[in-house]
Amino acid sequence: MPYKRSRITIDRWRSVQRLELEFWSRWTTLPPFQNLDIPKYWRQEVAHFGEAWGCFRGLRVLDVGCGPVGLIHFADHAAERIRVDSLLPQYREKLTLGGRQLSLSAMAESLPLAARSIDLVVCYNALDHMWDPEAALDEMARVLRPGGAALLMVHTFPAGLRPLFWIDRMHPHHYTAPSFSLMVRSRLQVERCKTVKRHFELPAGKWWIPSSWKYRVGGLVVSSTYLRATKAA
Ligand SMILES: C[S@@+](CC[C@H](N)C(=O)[O-])C[C@H]1O[C@@H](n2cnc3c(N)ncnc32)[C@H](O)[C@@H]1O
Repeated sequence: MPYKRSRITIDRWRSVQRLELEFWSRWTTLPPFQNLDIPKYWRQEVAHFGEAWGCFRGLRVLDVGCGPVGLIHFADHAAERIRVDSLLPQYREKLTLGGRQLSLSAMAESLPLAARSIDLVVCYNALDHMWDPEAALDEMARVLRPGGAALLMVHTFPAGLRPLFWIDRMHPHHYTAPSFSLMVRSRLQVERCKTVKRHFELPAGKWWIPSSWKYRVGGLVVSSTYLRATKAA
């Protein structure tokens, strides 16, 4: 799929945000997440970026689009943790952060943070839910210090499924692994890009439940692309 800038209308983005809230109000009841060991999950996900869990130690870490139980909540070895999410005040389940921390209910497209002030940016499964992913990437590049790193993940799809993307209401933007990498490459130096087929763990015996079907189909077509990029020193 050729790379093409996509920005949705603010009304469409608000409708995605409503779906987002609805998802997070019941996510622990959905088949793949019922028995999820969240700290273990985040350790495994960080490994996909080619990083050790210790990579946050001593750093000022920013998680953009952190959600209620995002990675930042578990990186308690960071020197300072900053979480940003447009829905932060609305999340009921949100975990607390100890130590030096900052919680910002803000748009990723306009981060209320100083330029070159962040050592490491995380944006996991969030860019493709945003109003203007490229503006958000510009902001992440702006706040990163020279030599700082970004760990970015989006779900990616085969280009041939393009006519069906509209069905997937929670992702207003869709990327293939190459189009995602191209988008990041114009702002940061891509050091590592890895794509793995998404595996949704479904509880045995629950395959017939309608809420499982979506994840069974997802397991056939959805991948996750993990990209580690740095800002030129
Ligand atoms: C699929 S959730 C991922 C949450 C978290 N990163 C995780 O993986 O658990 C996407 C998150 O991005 C947030 N988000 C979407 N658009 C945003 C924007 N323009 N600015 C800040 N956050 C945004 C949503 O509110 C939501 O919490």
